[in-house]
Amino acid sequence: MFAPPRLMTKGENTVLRLPQAACITDVAGRDGFQMEKEFIPTEHKVKVLDMLTDSGMRKIEVTSFVHPKAVPQMRDAEEVLERIKRRPDVIYSCLVPNLRGAERALACKVDEVNVVLSVSETHNRRNVNMTVEESMAAVASVVELVRGAGRRANVSLATAFGCPYEGDVPVDRVLALIERCLAFGACSITLADTTGMANPTQVYRMAQLVMERWPDLCLTFHFHNTRGMGLANILAGLLSGVTSYDASLGGLGGCPFAPGATGNVCTEDVVHMLQEMGVNTGVDLDLLIEAARELERLLGRTLPGQVMKAGKRRCLIPVGDFSFKTEGVR
Ligand code: COA
Ligand code: ZN
Repeated sequence: MFAPPRLMTKGENTVLRLPQAACITDVAGRDGFQMEKEFIPTEHKVKVLDMLTDSGMRKIEVTSFVHPKAVPQMRDAEEVLERIKRRPDVIYSCLVPNLRGAERALACKVDEVNVVLSVSETHNRRNVNMTVEESMAAVASVVELVRGAGRRANVSLATAFGCPYEGDVPVDRVLALIERCLAFGACSITLADTTGMANPTQVYRMAQLVMERWPDLCLTFHFHNTRGMGLANILAGLLSGVTSYDASLGGLGGCPFAPGATGNVCTEDVVHMLQEMGVNTGVDLDLLIEAARELERLLGRTLPGQVMKAGKRRCLIPVGDFSFKTEGVR
């Protein structure tokens, strides 16, 4: 027989144990724009990225240095990095798949190079045309080059929570790759849920396993909201103590090399949720919402972000606006 869930009784701890602050990296410039079929004029990209800088984001993934034939949208990477406004307290990062990408990035004075590979063979082959072992060799040389140039090297492990081609990805495989990347000298690691396959229980468990083994690791989670679990996954991550997350303005984004991929968890929705729960992000949410609306205007279509449509929870509607309702009631 169905037993209803037990209600909390007095004395039980009903308050979530959340960190005081979290760092959100906006990835719209890379993960967001890479999914757009029509070329976005460079000045539009720069405008959105500058609004992100003004909003107080601590870290922005600006673009990627990939083959222009693989992702034509990213062909203006150098120009975008040349033209964006920079603030000294903001980390400007970019994604690369190989050594050639890292060389191009370093020539553009990025603060951080984020080298990507997938945990699963099939997605890695589709995405960067390499085996995972070939990619690991690339990671080793990228990390060496980047650290030698005095910049930060982050490694992103795509499909870390599941692969759209292979299904479940063994956690041991994720842990083994992290171990090797750290041995190469990687400064930090991102675990990416490329096609929104993670669920909150899985996220919590993954965070526990990683943090038990590397308590001082700078770990970021990167969730896509493909199946509506993005914010729930962030909450699970926060509860396990992870304080760094990627998100994309307006909820734009997805991997062009994964069928059915859709947007990242939405930056302004994440910041809104965190603020409402008392977790500090250092971001001005009003400016962020303005940036998301500008992004919608520039792309000419509605984006998945919800707070930019509904407004902040604290923005109350003047009572006078309801007068039409009373007239209609008989
Ligand atoms: N930027 C620009 N050109 C690049 C490059 C890069 N990062 N990497 C390789 N090239 C060039 C090489 O110099 C070579 O040029 P040449 O023919 O004039 O000598 C040519 O591309 C082929 O090099 P190769 O190493 O064989 O590349 P590939 O054709 O196997 O493609 C990648 C591999 C990684 C470059 C390509 O698959 C890619 O750019 N993938 C990006 C995927 C992506 O952005 N996914 C979404 C984000 S996760
Ligand atoms: Zn992504």
